[in-house]
Amino acid sequence: MSDSDAGSDEDEAEAVANEGDEPTPIGVKLGSTRTVIAIPEDGGLRTVKTLTCLATYEDAITGEEKVLYGEEAAREYPDRVQYTLRSGLPEDEDAAELTATFFESVIEANDVPTDSAVVYAIPTIDNERGLSNLESVIEGSSIGETLIRSYPESLCGAVPALGADLEAIDDIFVTVNMGSTNLEASAYRRGEQLIPFTTGAVTGNEVDRRIANYVEEETQGRVNIDTTTAREYKEEHADFVDFEPFTDIIQQPGGGSHEFTIERSVMDAVDEYVDEAVEEVANAFLPDLANDYIKVYQLALDRPIVLTGGMTCIPGIVEEFEERLSDELERDVDVVAPDDPSLSAAVGAQRIAARLVDADAY
Ligand SMILES: Nc1ncnc2c1ncn2[C@@H]1O[C@H](COP(=O)(O)OP(=O)(O)OP(=O)(O)O)[C@@H](O)[C@H]1O
Ligand SMILES: [Mg+2]
Repeated sequence: MSDSDAGSDEDEAEAVANEGDEPTPIGVKLGSTRTVIAIPEDGGLRTVKTLTCLATYEDAITGEEKVLYGEEAAREYPDRVQYTLRSGLPEDEDAAELTATFFESVIEANDVPTDSAVVYAIPTIDNERGLSNLESVIEGSSIGETLIRSYPESLCGAVPALGADLEAIDDIFVTVNMGSTNLEASAYRRGEQLIPFTTGAVTGNEVDRRIANYVEEETQGRVNIDTTTAREYKEEHADFVDFEPFTDIIQQPGGGSHEFTIERSVMDAVDEYVDEAVEEVANAFLPDLANDYIKVYQLALDRPIVLTGGMTCIPGIVEEFEERLSDELERDVDVVAPDDPSLSAAVGAQRIAARLVDADAY
């Protein structure tokens, strides 16, 4: 009796020790606007979210090159901050190197464990060179000593919308990823990506450009804003439920300042965005899906369509998209989104990493 008790204590002790030896499952999304990392902590998840940008400067005393990243770099060095994934992927070796420097700085500053199994949420873009540059950043980083895997960003992002675990992986559904540089639509059948569709014409960046143009029009040419400011207006004020006109102040080059109010520029731009996104999904992506996989098309449209990506954060956009897509298709479709679309790709990737660790897939 006492022997067997001792035995089970030992087993338990061993189980705990093994658990301690297991790599930490981590999810990463390296995005053109923001990078997000999800790390388990205290029974929950710690998420790190930062702008994907960096600026270097010389230490005033030692002359050493120092790296600043994220919001701090954007705020303090607007003159030379670099967005290393501006077009979604590192275009060339220089961009890959800068991205690696950026990523390593984020890893160090946030104590991301190197003894880890890391799943990366990767954009669906047909750009071999860019993808292989991104891979070199991922492979060269200090995290993921035990395991490195990649899954499509749109799949990872949909995971938190479809259940508390990995229900999405056993499901059939359509998802639309609304990012900075791309609009992507795909169907997933038990984790298999079908008919991925992407367009660079309907994007968060394009919305920012339009907002900048519309602001100039709305203020009769008195106000010129850059696209970073336009993005900030969009992220702070775009709202399909209760948008409120807002005021801002610019400093005049000759001194003094000018206060102005924005009533239409932001909502006009996001309104057009939703129309164009619906148009692409209804008239370009879905017909292709129906053509090649009519059963999957039927099954998927009977279930919720999942919106993911940063543009999904705009309040009320899910309902707008649902209404306009239903009109366009002349049938009712249901549209859902994860609770926090700006984190969901990293959170979904983290759940996949945890499953891989549980399955001892390393
Ligand atoms: N709270 C918010 N409100 C409105 N827009 C937002 C919000 N948060 C992020 N966005 C917008 O979402 C876009 C970024 O989305 P996401 O992070 O999914 O893109 P990405 O993965 O970096 O880009 P891509 O995959 O297209 O290269 C940007 O246009 C950003 O301004
Ligand atoms: Mg993306």
